[in-house]
Amino acid sequence: MNLIVKKQQISPNVTRLDVVAPRISQIRQPGQFIIVRAKENSERIPLTIADANPVCETITLVIQSVGRSTKELVSMNVGEFILDIVGPLGKPTELIKSGTAVCVGGGVGTAVVYPIACGLKSNGVKIISVIGGRSKEWVIFEEELSKLGEVVVCTDDGSYGKKGFVTEAIKELIEHGGIDIVYAVGPVPMMRAIAELTRGPKIKTIVSLNPIMVDGTGMCGGCRVKVGGKNKFACVDGPEFDGHLVDFNLLMDRLTTYRPYEQEALESHEEECKIGLGKSNPA
Ligand code: NAD
Ligand code: FES
Repeated sequence: MNLIVKKQQISPNVTRLDVVAPRISQIRQPGQFIIVRAKENSERIPLTIADANPVCETITLVIQSVGRSTKELVSMNVGEFILDIVGPLGKPTELIKSGTAVCVGGGVGTAVVYPIACGLKSNGVKIISVIGGRSKEWVIFEEELSKLGEVVVCTDDGSYGKKGFVTEAIKELIEHGGIDIVYAVGPVPMMRAIAELTRGPKIKTIVSLNPIMVDGTGMCGGCRVKVGGKNKFACVDGPEFDGHLVDFNLLMDRLTTYRPYEQEALESHEEECKIGLGKSNPA
């Protein structure tokens, strides 16, 4: 049982939860994730460990509420207990030891790139973060990343920072030169577009993949991805891979396979919530 000690809405559909998890807070490394089960009958969902405080024995989870399970998790409040958290899982990020790294975060993926940037900073690497959101209120972790280096903010509608996708800012940085590596986390089309931009100039590009996961231990095969023509399991071989070798089309196909079922689960959850509300509020 893991106590929720802090809850904060950080964008229209993204919530930050700080949760007591003593062992994980002490041993987790950048790039690793956990699998959470909110309640007895909840689905197990993978979430990146965005931050950790070993002194307070807490970890920070950043959750985009898009489906039944994520909505259930973000409906929990400070003082409530998450049923179980398994982790840390996955391989830690391969962090360079010197040079310049560009850390790209698209939407909620920015919370995933943040621990990577922290790890790079402690190695003495120069960091340029490029983060994007649909509009100003969707931009997250700007303040945290600005403590680590320069931050370029992009919004799709131009309401804050540069107008356009993060890829526009990446093109400019590539033209300027001097980039040793790119770490990119966000929507699959974004990671694919960045990998294509860096392929020509041969800039190593690490992406973090988010396929469907069930057990998180390499047993179920749910998280299968193709990298360099070989089958890999994102939960044990990743979740980070060389972006120039990832079969993004297969990943997108697999991510959309269960969408009708996810929609159905979400609708039945919303229906249950309405009924629950009716019971507690007969007026
Ligand atoms: P979003 O759709 O609002 O996009 C965020 C930003 O990404 C945009 O502002 C833009 O700068 C960039 N972007 C989007 N599409 C692009 C494209 N086609 N080309 C170039 N840049 C593009 O993002 P969101 O709603 O916050 O969703 C985030 C996505 O990240 C979800 O699909 C989620 O599944 C995924 N995600 C991935 C991981 C991971 O580990 N890879 C972790 C969390 C979330
Ligand atoms: Fe089951 Fe990766 S989640 S094999």
